[in-house]
Amino acid sequence: MALAMQEQELRLGVNIDHVATLRNARGGSDPDLVRAALLAQGAGADGITIHLREDRRHIRDADLGAVMRAIRIPLNLEMAATEEMRRIALAHRPHAICLVPERREERTTEGGLEVAGDAARLRDYIAPLRDAGARVSLFIAPDEAQVEAAAHVGAQVVELHVGAYSEHCAANAAERRDAELRRLFSAAALGKELGLEIHAGHGLNFENVGPIAAIPEILELNIGHFLIGEAVFVGLEAAIREMRRQMNLARL
Ligand code: PXP
Repeated sequence: MALAMQEQELRLGVNIDHVATLRNARGGSDPDLVRAALLAQGAGADGITIHLREDRRHIRDADLGAVMRAIRIPLNLEMAATEEMRRIALAHRPHAICLVPERREERTTEGGLEVAGDAARLRDYIAPLRDAGARVSLFIAPDEAQVEAAAHVGAQVVELHVGAYSEHCAANAAERRDAELRRLFSAAALGKELGLEIHAGHGLNFENVGPIAAIPEILELNIGHFLIGEAVFVGLEAAIREMRRQMNLARL
């Protein structure tokens, strides 16, 4: 019983951007993004996450509607806080929106959103999204000032950027990894205290997910690149099921 409750508490959002990366490498329609979304749903994903980037390097506009129509679990749309993206979000009304910083030249979302320094604009930006029923999340570094600012501008959720933690794990830099974990623990505790729901993501894999999944305030992990890569070896369904298992083990 306790296990069943814990399992429900930590959700897995599967990010399928890199299925689209593979598809776009050849310009056709394979591998099919909707098929991947449905497969992830069947394998136990609690939500599907996609990032519609300004340069459309993976997810394209038509993918958003196609995935939303196909799945029955929530869709989390990651996007930059631009007018164009807000227009698209308001037209499609996904369950959740996660605002992320975006730079054209980056390979992936490198840092967290600067909320504290852009508070007035973000407050105005978020309000219509919330009015339209979206659960708005801000992707931020595990930094006290950013957590406080996120609560202040009206976000319901913060997704903590665990990229630095993941890099320290990969480099076997134990001290730096532990220092980053401590930052994540206190950011999660502060966020919860301020009434925010806490998520986390970036760079998670079977090896490093445990300590993040064990942070009790965290209710959702968003995981993409590793799962799609692992799918090459074991299939997407098996990769997702194993990730779920690792997450559940960490919550025991
Ligand atoms: N969460 C957010 C906000 C992201 O931008 C990304 C990367 O697109 C992820 C989670 C997933 O990161 P990864 O693909 O490294 O698992």
